[in-house]
Amino acid sequence: MSIDIVLRGLGRYVPEKTLTNAALEKIVDTSDEWIFTRTGIRVRHIASEEQNTSDLAVEAARQALANANMEAEELTHIVVGTFTPDAMVPSCACVVEEKLGIKGRAVYDIAAACSGFLYALENARAILALHPEARVLVIGAETVTRRINFEDRTTCVLFGDGAGAAVLTRDGEGPKVLDVKLSSDGSLGRLLTVNGGGSCSSYSRPGEPIREDYFVQMEGREIFKHAVRSMTGVCNEILEDNGRTRHDIDVLIPHQANWRIIDAVGRKFDVPPEKVYSNVDRYGNTSAASIPLALSEAVDNDFVKDGDLVLLTSFGGGFTWASALLQF
Ligand SMILES: CC(C)(COP(=O)(O)OP(=O)(O)OC[C@H]1O[C@@H](n2cnc3c(N)ncnc32)[C@H](O)[C@@H]1OP(=O)(O)O)[C@@H](O)C(=O)NCCC(=O)NCCS
Repeated sequence: MSIDIVLRGLGRYVPEKTLTNAALEKIVDTSDEWIFTRTGIRVRHIASEEQNTSDLAVEAARQALANANMEAEELTHIVVGTFTPDAMVPSCACVVEEKLGIKGRAVYDIAAACSGFLYALENARAILALHPEARVLVIGAETVTRRINFEDRTTCVLFGDGAGAAVLTRDGEGPKVLDVKLSSDGSLGRLLTVNGGGSCSSYSRPGEPIREDYFVQMEGREIFKHAVRSMTGVCNEILEDNGRTRHDIDVLIPHQANWRIIDAVGRKFDVPPEKVYSNVDRYGNTSAASIPLALSEAVDNDFVKDGDLVLLTSFGGGFTWASALLQF
């Protein structure tokens, strides 16, 4: 079943504190030159000790609500894509609901790592197909740096914290979400893991060192290949299913993991670099926050204009990957 849903408002938030490549040079054996040429990242934002994922999420949510001219009270559902919730229980969505001062809504988290926002967006479409009057808040929010080993130079240079949010309805004015495609391959899950805290990994006792599996562990090269291949595939699928071709794409916003991945996806579709949005230089990989952070920014700075066909695509641990087609 295909329905058009309306993107009523977008919002984003990144913590104030930043971590530059120069600062990382003092923590691990790396260099600004290595990080920038391999990833395109210059700086990333890091949550303060007082900030949890829900705090970032709420800031982005308030902005999305303001842009939608709506009050939190009007929301019926909250869906949060995150792999770094404040706690295993309660869900991040429950904490966000409480911080927005509302209760009694249907709220829950979605675990799809970096594809969390697009998975949550498809969930919003399903909710709105069942409940046409619903007002759904979709959030991608992460404090990835809490799950980063700052002694591991192969991962610690890549990630940052942030949040992005969108309010979706069936009625009202705004860009339309034309379609969303989701996919996955669990057999490749071992290539990107955070096992610590899960049932496969018993907890540490007080006084024991934190084990490495508490942090993000990955096979960077393998992920790179799969990311480009999977995002290209799911973009082709959504274009074909919607009777569009790569020539119809006005703006492409891939998951902001690494400029070389973003560039490679753009090249596969012959989308010129000036039509490919990237802010990875300023935020690094913010996982589930990456797509809504980039989309919200691209709209605010007029990179995306009225009438544009916007193609979003993400890739993350699981592996999961997804695409979405938006008509502005
Ligand atoms: C991680 C990534 C940037 C590494 O780039 P790469 O060109 O594949 O580099 P390699 O992993 O082959 O490492 C090359 C060398 O650089 C070294 N290196 C790794 N991290 C380094 C760092 N931060 N600074 C300096 N050197 C580093 C490696 O140890 C290796 O050295 P060696 O050849 O002596 O063993 C790249 O593979 C990537 O972006 N992968 C995708 C990761 C990702 O996006 N994950 C999240 C998915 S949502």
